[in-house]
Amino acid sequence: MATVATVAIVGLGPVGLTTAVAFASQGHRVIGFDIDENRRAEVTQGKPPFYEKGLEAGLKKALRQKRLSVVDRMDDAVRGSGIIFLCVGTPSKPDGSMDVGPLHDAAKSVATAWRDEKTRTVVVKSTVLPGTAESVVRPLLQAAGVPFRIAVNPEFLREGRALEDALRPDRIILGVDSPGTARILRALYRSSRCPVLVTDLRTAESVKYATNALLAAKVSLANELANLCDGFGVDYDEVLRGVALDPRINPQFLVPGVGFGGSCFPKDVRALVASGTANGYRPELLEAVLALNERQFARAIAFLEKELGDLVGRRIALLGLAFKGNTDDVRESRAVPIARELIAKGAIVAGYDPAAMKGFSKLVPEVHLVNSVEEALKGADGCILQADWPAFSGLTAKDFRGLMTNPVVVDGRRILDPKKMRGVRFHRIG
Ligand code: UGA
Repeated sequence: MATVATVAIVGLGPVGLTTAVAFASQGHRVIGFDIDENRRAEVTQGKPPFYEKGLEAGLKKALRQKRLSVVDRMDDAVRGSGIIFLCVGTPSKPDGSMDVGPLHDAAKSVATAWRDEKTRTVVVKSTVLPGTAESVVRPLLQAAGVPFRIAVNPEFLREGRALEDALRPDRIILGVDSPGTARILRALYRSSRCPVLVTDLRTAESVKYATNALLAAKVSLANELANLCDGFGVDYDEVLRGVALDPRINPQFLVPGVGFGGSCFPKDVRALVASGTANGYRPELLEAVLALNERQFARAIAFLEKELGDLVGRRIALLGLAFKGNTDDVRESRAVPIARELIAKGAIVAGYDPAAMKGFSKLVPEVHLVNSVEEALKGADGCILQADWPAFSGLTAKDFRGLMTNPVVVDGRRILDPKKMRGVRFHRIG
């Protein structure tokens, strides 16, 4: 068997916990730590604090096999490990810039807990702007006088398939301070058969942002083209089919709809805009990516108004409250502005999501949450499909016609086939 590493994971959020379970399932010995006591307790009992496909089973197995344990003190996490992953969040400040507070605190706490002379590798997995590992993490370890190596290893996990992505990555980026650090991390990832790119620290940090900026820009570009297609009266799908014959254009992430949400694209693009501007370069294209995304949801509501006129007193079914299907994450979900705008226009909104109702109820409490798609559609004058849950893609024209008062449907995620929507006034963007 490949070398077994002892890995500490600091921060048991979606990225940290998924990474912990993946390393454990690859045979490594993993110690998890989080400052949130409730989260530690839940994970110890085998309950992920959020929904992620396959994670609960993987976590339970790792705990049972004693490859993963959760400790209550950072001292124990540091003492028991040779490689320490920092997986804490890097939220946005009100001005869009990145808040390094949680990363600073986690690195400081690692440095304080490090009481022996053992050399350890500290790896920043949190999404951080170029230069952060060098300007925030390194000085804290240096000040503590501990023998450390430092690396940046960005994650490319998609919520809803994060464990799969962690177990079978399509690339691994290792930003390192020396060839020795690269060797340690290559050994850790030995079971992953994919390209490994070794870079310096800043380049690895930049790869993460450049990737998310490109993907978010693709989505906004798809939305822009689809909006134009609406004006031309042409079908975006047909146009994309032709476009994708160009080998230089990959059709993935060119699905138009009500805009991107989630904990990554909006936050990361905003952080790039804020830091670029602060450094004397205003990234106007990325500003436009965000601005278009902010407006895009309104097109779905405009379709409803076109069909129904005034929305006062109209009952609208909002299907999908999470930012996309297969997750309970409501961060930056487009369902939020959609619901708020509908309510502001006097509509009564019935919301349903297979996993995200609890989180959503705190964001827009005025939405009437119901327990099924059928309940949401019953007696509705209109419907907006906001998240691409697999359960929604099975909806038929008969469902809409049979349940709704007015079968007006806006597919905001392109999951239904318009050709099969006979008798439904069906719209999608593009
Ligand atoms: C994204 C990236 O895809 C991951 O590679 C990255 O690791 C992660 O951010 C991160 O930085 O941690 P995620 O936020 O889970 O992953 O979601 P995506 O599947 O990328 O979707 C983001 C948003 O864009 C969703 O609202 C989705 O509905 C929307 N989208 C995506 C579109 O509107 N059109 C598309 O063609 C694709």
